[in-house]
Amino acid sequence: MARRLPSAPPNLPGFAHVHVLGSGGFADVFLYEQNMPRRQVAVKVMLSEVVNDQVRQMFQAEANLMAQLSAHPAILTVYQASISADGRPYLVMELCSSALSQRYRTERIPVPEVLRVAVKIGSAIETAHRAGVLHRDIKPSNILLTAYGHPVLSDFGIAATLGESENLEAVGMSIPWSAPEVLMDETAGTIESEIWSFAATVYSLLAGRSPFEQPGESNKSSDLISRINRAKPGPIGRGDVPPSLERALARAMSRKPENRHESVLELVRELQAVETELGVPQTAIEVVMDDWALATTSNLEDRTRIKGGHDAVSSVAQRRRRRRGEDAGPYSAVGTVVRETGSKTNATNATASRGIRAFAWVLVAAAVLVLALGTIATLVLVRATSTDIPTVVDVQATTKDGTVAFSWADPGIKGDDSYQISTNTGESSIQRSPAFTVDAEPGDRVCLTVTVNRDGKTGSPSSEKCVDVPQ
Ligand SMILES: Nc1ncnc2c1ncn2[C@@H]1O[C@H](COP(=O)(O)OP(=O)(O)OP(=O)(O)O)[C@@H](O)[C@H]1O
Ligand SMILES: [Mg+2]
Repeated sequence: MARRLPSAPPNLPGFAHVHVLGSGGFADVFLYEQNMPRRQVAVKVMLSEVVNDQVRQMFQAEANLMAQLSAHPAILTVYQASISADGRPYLVMELCSSALSQRYRTERIPVPEVLRVAVKIGSAIETAHRAGVLHRDIKPSNILLTAYGHPVLSDFGIAATLGESENLEAVGMSIPWSAPEVLMDETAGTIESEIWSFAATVYSLLAGRSPFEQPGESNKSSDLISRINRAKPGPIGRGDVPPSLERALARAMSRKPENRHESVLELVRELQAVETELGVPQTAIEVVMDDWALATTSNLEDRTRIKGGHDAVSSVAQRRRRRRGEDAGPYSAVGTVVRETGSKTNATNATASRGIRAFAWVLVAAAVLVLALGTIATLVLVRATSTDIPTVVDVQATTKDGTVAFSWADPGIKGDDSYQISTNTGESSIQRSPAFTVDAEPGDRVCLTVTVNRDGKTGSPSSEKCVDVPQ
């Protein structure tokens, strides 16, 4: 996308520069060969023009977020992050291919293939949301393919962050995939604006163009912005896209955020239903929701986790008051924190850590990566079943102060066994404790199922326990 020559590759100890891979609005990506261990890596280096102390801080926050989320199979793996001798922050990442984001413009990608990519990337976005993080720059060029052809999401937060203080186009802000309320500066990002961008990305992969680009017409930024503001994406224009898929994407790109899906997961489930309609196997949703699995590092501890009541925080009026910068510290734009309560959501900016020095955060990111790699094996949900695995019986539930507390007797778990929990509100968890609490509103019906995981296999699920929360 960049209309400029790439910057000079920095001299990085332990790495030999090979060639340029690509350029974005605020960074260049180079192929380097790492010396130890010997492997090829992609190194994203920020342009010196955009670097200042605040940007370095934001870059640090991005590196930490990506390292924290790297365990997800559809999120790009970050190996290392640091600052070059000439003062430019850089990220060392898994070497990927950008073939998908080039292919959709020149080739009609089969609908089942787009759905498979969409379910995987949607799972990654949902996982980020559950970890309290908004991506803020979802678009085709941020979907890369690993060496094994798996789609992965890259670039958490930083492009949108730079877009806050600069001319949007100058930093390459992704107008074609941005929600109208973001372009209108009503919000710096919410779950609903991510649902829009995700749907606009899926639309692009199907249509071969972004949803508000009109072939043969003027597609300047001002044209796109006014069309996005009217929020009427035209037909995708190919006969093999079922109406159910067009409807799902159109709903996700509703002008009013409250008319969109309530979560990315809800949209992903609709995409799975389209897979079934087309007679292709459903792509598995890979979402983890538990505090230990999404464990953060010390510098993420001071991110603001919002604990307000649903109605207060989910009203659009309130979100609109939360305009860019109004309730945010100087480093607030990366690491946006969200908290999902039952089926409703809320979001606000977080304050990224100021106290950690440049070298310390490299160590922190590395430590998180080790932790993340160590937990991958546990996070993968293997569908095989075994009769030796105990089954949870008799799940109890009590309702109190807007929560439903579920608990059950230990059926005889041992060693590294864990409970795999799922609820009808879309929450899931892998944990050792025999209890799980769900936020609920009066009148809600909350149901929970528990299964024991042993050695990567799941046993038989408990019978579903449902509770009607009194009015
Ligand atoms: N890990 C990677 N492996 C291989 N190529 C990559 C990797 N990350 C990025 N690239 C390539 O480098 C290009 C530039 O990436 P970059 O993220 O800087 O810009 P962008 O995503 O195109 O736009 P923006 O500046 O808005 O993020 C990408 O388009 C992609 O082709
Ligand atoms: Mg990118």
